[in-house]
Amino acid sequence: MQKTDFLVIGSGIAGLTYALKVAQEFPAKKVLVLTKAKADETNTKYAQGGVAVVNDLENDSFEKHIEDTLIAGDGLCNKQVVEIVVKEGPDRVRELIEWGAQFDKEKDGDYKLGKEGGHSEFRIIHHKDITGWEMERALLDAVEKQKNIEIIKHCFVVDIITQHHLGYLVTKATPDIECYGVYVLNLQTNKIEKIVAKTTLLATGGNGQVYRTTTNPSIATGDGVAMVYRAKGRIENMEFIQFHPTALYEAGLRGQAFLITEAVRGDGGILRNKDGEAFMERYDARKDLAPRDIVARAIDSEMKRTGTEHVWLDCRHFSKEKFTEHFPNIYQKCLSIGIDIAKNMIPVAPAAHYSCGGIKVDEWGRSSIRNLYACGECSSTGLHGANRLASNSLLEAMVFAHRCYLDVKERINNNAEEKAIPDWDAKGTTEPKEMILITQSLKELQQVMSDYVGIVRNDVRLQRAMKRLDLLWEETEKLYEGSSVSPQLLELRNLITVGYLIVKGAAFRKESRGLHYNTDYPGKSDLVQNIVL
Ligand code: FAD
Ligand code: SIN
Repeated sequence: MQKTDFLVIGSGIAGLTYALKVAQEFPAKKVLVLTKAKADETNTKYAQGGVAVVNDLENDSFEKHIEDTLIAGDGLCNKQVVEIVVKEGPDRVRELIEWGAQFDKEKDGDYKLGKEGGHSEFRIIHHKDITGWEMERALLDAVEKQKNIEIIKHCFVVDIITQHHLGYLVTKATPDIECYGVYVLNLQTNKIEKIVAKTTLLATGGNGQVYRTTTNPSIATGDGVAMVYRAKGRIENMEFIQFHPTALYEAGLRGQAFLITEAVRGDGGILRNKDGEAFMERYDARKDLAPRDIVARAIDSEMKRTGTEHVWLDCRHFSKEKFTEHFPNIYQKCLSIGIDIAKNMIPVAPAAHYSCGGIKVDEWGRSSIRNLYACGECSSTGLHGANRLASNSLLEAMVFAHRCYLDVKERINNNAEEKAIPDWDAKGTTEPKEMILITQSLKELQQVMSDYVGIVRNDVRLQRAMKRLDLLWEETEKLYEGSSVSPQLLELRNLITVGYLIVKGAAFRKESRGLHYNTDYPGKSDLVQNIVL
């Protein structure tokens, strides 16, 4: 059993930013970061477009960024949180630059600024089209130099430990649920161990893998959200799943799809349907740069109308030099599958991309469970409302990592009574005999979510989805109770929970708002509410 004051689950931007701050504040204490894969295998690494941040006060302003965020969020953002993130953002970006991250600059030394859907100004700083890769690199380099941070890789967190594990009945009505640490599956030894911590930060990222195609890597299985839900903590607004309008379409592909950043449209890329029509002007005055929910729905509608599996992104009018300077990675990827962007249009289709809801936290990143913080994509801070403004999530993760750190340093209780945490009970369980049962259930889950709980929903589809999820849940629980745990089984279980929360939230929301579009309720309700489960 390990003991630590500061436990961090996740090695993306949220977890590493927090770990660095806490470790610098408390050089004599060890900060433990757990991650279930390689340290850099995160959603963060795949971020392309960049970080939305106001740094050109001549042409831009906090007010404009706030307004753009509120408009994209379609009436559901927490305005106070929007102001916090937008106004504190520039300081957090400066810190990241001090830790070594590099962003593209103009010849005069000013940062190059990109534009994406829903932004009224050019304000997105970036590192070519691999911004996330560069940020993750800089953070891991800084962590490497910070001797009191230990990263344990291939360490799968199974559950957070609460009074429930001490034998007490814990329900949603329990007033003061506490987190004492976590049970982890050590993927080197295949044994479950316990880690006891005074404070725990969940920074476990998104859940795109609950859908058939997603821009997210395979780690994005909503583990943090599922763990908090099991521990009877509060989860909010899970129905708001953002589908990125332009993932690269490759016939037959399942799982992670390559993203074509929205910044390509910011630089002038045009969406066209099968007949070559630039259709976005029929849907929104902002055309290709309307907020993401609108563009994704428009593409979905064009695909259904014309019976195609994708639309086209036309960049043939770009100068090759300009395109390759800003988007070298996309250029190479397209070339590798026979698409020369100077001559051919790029086939694109929407794919699950970002979870706007998640673990409900306050403005200091505190979850409803004591000593448990959540930050980054797994959390729901109130910033995104019903639809996240492009490139606001890296910014949110940095701002909230800082706020979690400020809070934890004030609140950490050095005299907390140590609890006798029991070992994990693995009695009566055997190795799973047929892995196919797990992989097939995962495929079914992804199919159900994509067919019935995608960009356009209705009540019948949601009811069907719920019935099928019930069955998958029942079968998976039997497997879970009877066999020893494996990462595949744990992820399946977590994804079914996430799917359930998305469907449940969607079924509760009797309106269409932002990313949640239900044809049975096409308008917005007067009742503006967050759905907390
Ligand atoms: P992640 O970076 O996903 O890190 C999650 C970590 O948690 C990983 O280390 C994972 O291994 C670990 N973990 C998860 N479960 C467990 C478990 N059970 N046990 C142990 N460890 C666990 N946002 C922007 O603002 N701008 C962009 O340009 C942009 N582009 C994007 C492009 C793509 C292709 C994608 C997928 C996302 C993009 N986003 C962008 C969104 C943004 O990248 C993510 O929201 C953000 O990086 C999430 O950071 P995070 O630290 O919360 O989680
Ligand atoms: C993109 O580069 O298009 C993704 C940006 C984001 O998800 O914020």
